[in-house]
Amino acid sequence: MDLVFMGPPGAGKGTQAQRLCARLGVPQVSTGDMLRAARKAGTELGRKADEYMSTGRLVPDEVVIGLVAERIAQPDARGGYVLDGFPRTVAQAESLDRILAAAGRQLDHVVLLEVPDELIVERITGRRTGETTGRIYHIKYDPPPFPNRGEGGERLLTRSDDREEVVRQRLAEYAAMTAPLVAYYATRGLLRRVDGVGALDDITTALLRAIGVA
Ligand code: AP5
Repeated sequence: MDLVFMGPPGAGKGTQAQRLCARLGVPQVSTGDMLRAARKAGTELGRKADEYMSTGRLVPDEVVIGLVAERIAQPDARGGYVLDGFPRTVAQAESLDRILAAAGRQLDHVVLLEVPDELIVERITGRRTGETTGRIYHIKYDPPPFPNRGEGGERLLTRSDDREEVVRQRLAEYAAMTAPLVAYYATRGLLRRVDGVGALDDITTALLRAIGVA
């Protein structure tokens, strides 16, 4: 299955993508994770991306489109993937259409996780991510197994762009640049709206139902 996960920052895209990928046996392709990995590795691309990410702005289209095109051409993505955080602009969506058409593929569903803005800041400021596994926790809603430690005792990290003022800028970018994709995919009959508020398991169930798996 070729899937896209959309939604504002902190909607639960990464959390639900991890669950769905484990269930479907397909890779999670997160542009945010790929850009953070490049930044950590100190590559030229990572340094360029950091100028945008640290202030909550979108990284230029040509940078992320190249990353995604390369990633979904890998053998492990032949049976499908969950694109988490891509596309985020109309130009990215149009490029994705072209890349998939050239490979004789097409999207099956675009899932929109809907969460009101007033819940976002609390979600994001309470987020902790496992250093080794990348497992996403929340100090209140999905607490780690140990105080300040994840599974296997791994360290927990906070993201540098999870400060409140940067989160507000990320929300503004979402409204201006990414929200127009809702209409783009709705007119193509691909959009599946899922309420992102509630217990994690209930949202996973709703999501599976929305894509016709459960
Ligand atoms: P990215 O990493 O994609 O960040 P984002 O879209 O802002 O989304 P988040 O990762 O913050 O949230 P999420 O929806 O995955 O929520 P999560 O599951 O973690 O992008 C970061 C930056 O990279 C961008 O700002 C941009 O600069 C750049 N970038 C990335 N892709 C790009 C692209 N395509 N084009 C250009 N630039 C790009 O959940 C959040 C918290 O809530 C967690 O603590 C979780 O435990 C908790 N939670 C989840 N579900 C629930 C629930 N139901 N109830 C209570 N808590 C919950």
